[in-house]
Amino acid sequence: MEKIEDEKIKLEDVKPDKNVRILTGDRPTGKLHIGHYFGSLKSRVTLQDQFETFIEVADVQALTDNFNNPEKVKQNVSQILMDELAVGIDPNKVTFFLQSLIPEIAELTVFYSNLVTISRLERNPTVKTELAQKRALFGESVTYGFLGYPVSQAADITAFEAKLVPVGEDQLPLIEQCREIVRKFNSIYGETLKEPVAVLGNFPRIKGLDGNEKMGKSLGNALYLSDTEDVIKEKVMAALTDPARIKKDDPGHPDICMVYYYHKLFGNEEECKNVCEECKAGKRGCVACKKELIKNIDNTLRPIREKRHYYEERPNEVKDILMAGTAHARDIAKETMIKVKKSMKLDY
Ligand code: TRP
Repeated sequence: MEKIEDEKIKLEDVKPDKNVRILTGDRPTGKLHIGHYFGSLKSRVTLQDQFETFIEVADVQALTDNFNNPEKVKQNVSQILMDELAVGIDPNKVTFFLQSLIPEIAELTVFYSNLVTISRLERNPTVKTELAQKRALFGESVTYGFLGYPVSQAADITAFEAKLVPVGEDQLPLIEQCREIVRKFNSIYGETLKEPVAVLGNFPRIKGLDGNEKMGKSLGNALYLSDTEDVIKEKVMAALTDPARIKKDDPGHPDICMVYYYHKLFGNEEECKNVCEECKAGKRGCVACKKELIKNIDNTLRPIREKRHYYEERPNEVKDILMAGTAHARDIAKETMIKVKKSMKLDY
């Protein structure tokens, strides 16, 4: 593949190449919702046929802000794995692995911690934003572990010599920090590690059903991949519509209506055009409009739900997938470790 020099690249600009390794991951802190589906899962289904793909279940990173809730992290390891399998990420094509079972990542984190200053971590915009959201947990004083999680994420990526890291915009400062660590490592200990490149998709951040810019568990406005048809119905019926529209024949404003927003995600072009025109003309009632949306959402989510159900009934199969992937991932991390220790004169 051509040399990628930039620190980030657009998804549509990367040439598929099975010899190029990509790595991405999620913190297991909750089930995945349709924001994740449109934001990253769908693209993973495509990427798995184009690159050598690794997906990390980042349980150690999840503990950095859930250290007081290990049960939650443990339960969500299999939940998010089932979500990923349900959308069609194929364990025969992708290596799923569990962070806590790769001790080399922890070891690299310790080595890299000498190459990062505390003030640099404190300036990391992603860390800053998250800290502002986690006042309740950390108060005024952040833990060493949380402040240092970008170092551990650099270890996640470099342990596997991943070239491409598909992430959302919010993760860019973490990839930048990883690249700095790699450069510093190589300049001190000799050319050893590879600088990764962030791959950005062209995906919108999905708004919540209540119109909030962000969809999230804590906001109570998410549609989960595992939601039943009845739950979807209930959530969509409560979604925010044009508040000025009281009677059916009042002309509507689809642009401020969440139901129309979701029609655009789940319906075809023709349907969306109808929804928009009929709403503006006051010829479409919100209830009928919501019912049509429920049908469309269910058409997308039903096969996912059915596949998820298959795995829910087979926890051992889910576990085996994770263990087999982890064993493969560990072999690679061990090889990296040998190189790293050699460069650092720790090859006893
Ligand atoms: N920080 C990422 C998130 O919060 C999860 C993650 C952990 C990750 N390790 C990674 C993403 C390595 C990309 C590469 O979503």
